[in-house]
Amino acid sequence: MCGIVAYVGHRQAHEVIIKGLKRLEYRGYDSTGVALINGGLNVYKKKGKVSELESFVKGLNLNSNIGMGHTRWATHGEPNDENAHPHYSATKNLAIIHNGIIENYAAIKQDLLRKGHTFLSETDTEVFIHFIEDIQRNESCTLDEAVRLALTKVVGAYAIVVMSVHQPDLLIAARKGSPLVLGVGRGEFFMASDATPIIEYTNEVVYLNDQEIAIVNNGKLTIKDTSNLPLTPYVQTIDLELEAIEKGGFEHFMLKEIFEQPKSIRDCMRGRLDSVSGRLVLGGLREYLNKLVQADRIIIVACGTSWHAGLVAEYFFEEFCRIPVEVEYASEFRYRNPIIREGDVVIAISQSGETADTLAAIELAKSKGAIIFGVCNVVGSSIPRATHAGAYTHAGPEIGVASTKAFTAQLTVLNMIALIVAQKKGTITEQKFNELLVEMENLPAKVEKVLTLNNQIKKIAEEFKDSRNFLYLGRGYNFPVALEGALKLKEISYIHAEGYPAAEMKHGPIALIDAEMPVAFIATKDSSYEKVVSNIQEVKARKGRVISIVTEGDTLIPKMSEFVIEVPPVAEALMPLISVVPLQLLSYHIAVMRGCNVDQPRNLAKSVTVE
Ligand code: G6P
Repeated sequence: MCGIVAYVGHRQAHEVIIKGLKRLEYRGYDSTGVALINGGLNVYKKKGKVSELESFVKGLNLNSNIGMGHTRWATHGEPNDENAHPHYSATKNLAIIHNGIIENYAAIKQDLLRKGHTFLSETDTEVFIHFIEDIQRNESCTLDEAVRLALTKVVGAYAIVVMSVHQPDLLIAARKGSPLVLGVGRGEFFMASDATPIIEYTNEVVYLNDQEIAIVNNGKLTIKDTSNLPLTPYVQTIDLELEAIEKGGFEHFMLKEIFEQPKSIRDCMRGRLDSVSGRLVLGGLREYLNKLVQADRIIIVACGTSWHAGLVAEYFFEEFCRIPVEVEYASEFRYRNPIIREGDVVIAISQSGETADTLAAIELAKSKGAIIFGVCNVVGSSIPRATHAGAYTHAGPEIGVASTKAFTAQLTVLNMIALIVAQKKGTITEQKFNELLVEMENLPAKVEKVLTLNNQIKKIAEEFKDSRNFLYLGRGYNFPVALEGALKLKEISYIHAEGYPAAEMKHGPIALIDAEMPVAFIATKDSSYEKVVSNIQEVKARKGRVISIVTEGDTLIPKMSEFVIEVPPVAEALMPLISVVPLQLLSYHIAVMRGCNVDQPRNLAKSVTVE
């Protein structure tokens, strides 16, 4: 949460920074600020989005070749101008931007208050920069040494950048637990929470590791760790196209990303799965594959939509690999003293690769000796670096806060992993294996077909846009889809929604059903079809308004439903990749019709780097 960008070089820093902050707004959008050195170290900051800061600084002289900016997701202190970053030190000679939380800030603050410091904000970050300045004064040391000393004393997570009015060629950055990428251009340097603000200018990057400090001084980059050990920067070339992070004619990123799914699913399988030769290979599983094949139990840890992908994987792994699977909220798992035995394998799923709870769950499982596999989308992010092996989803940057194409790509990767394991274990017949490879290859075309229903789904959205509640019901593989459908609606339209296993409805939610209640059934032709038909009747009998997602050609359920969405047939185990798409579109249209900001829903952030 929170996005940071910094620049030093020959360009107008504010232009690079403002553009970069817009790309990072998915990380938080409570307030925005920029610091520049233009006749002094000046900070411009405002509550609200980057566009509000842009209007605020319009017409001002922002001429500077060095600067840094921040877009905030509030942790300490409400979103207002004062709490916005950057923050000044006591003398206003230094400024800082920070993504993360300094957990022991209250103790440090007490100390500084005793020394006569006063603070303008309620943030931990302002305390941090006062602390750095205080150390520099006491130790009479360089600024980078003061930053290093301060970092040895703070507890928590951070990605920071510090600037000084006295050194207009100096940027100091450091990270622990929050991401930070450095861009190395010709005579210019960039720093950002991810690579999207950088790739327009250079694709040469250095991913800073935890406990590392990067110093750009007079056009030279040096890196050391917090124990003062010098390190050699490892410059990598990244493969990220600018158009992948732009809207490309769509009104919102979310809609673009929903429509990108045929491509992202195909990209995810490219070079890995080929039904003609029967080839299925994931290079990233490497030498640890046998651990999965021999696993007594698989524990999946994830949050949000990624957790839903884990639930689908539970069905898939258990059906085809015959390995027991437990799916855990990372935030619960990490605080439960979980039992991890030899023979347990952990799979961590995360779009961003930065979710703090998932990372902490990984560290805990690792400390208990588990082998960890990662399924992540953002290349080079923290989770893939913390895991023993894994596979990227290759869905491309997902910018809309509500996850869509990352979910279907996660399912694709998880299915591939499970099929590889099942084949090695001999728990799947060759015929079934080959059938599923063919079916997987056909998925992009089938998703394409579902996307042609967009206008029909828009009409259904019109009908239900003013609903106060929504119920989503499904069974088997479609149960996690019900949860995901409800989450999508809640996240972006602020309508209260619940997902339930259809059979559980009679143990509670049935009491909610009346003539006002929309109930979305994911009722495709599968092994629980007849049972779902009975569940629909139970809703109808109580006058609930039934919207059904059915398999093409179904004649029974349409007679029982007020609205029907027909999706192409596919193997039961792959249906979530198809049946979730109409639900993504339904939420999208409802949210747009309600005037909600679908790409940046209130209070949410895409990358949750605080617990
Ligand atoms: C946030 C996002 C969700 C996402 C969840 C897990 O809540 O808004 O869309 O599913 O975090 O994120 P991850 O990056 O670990 O998949």
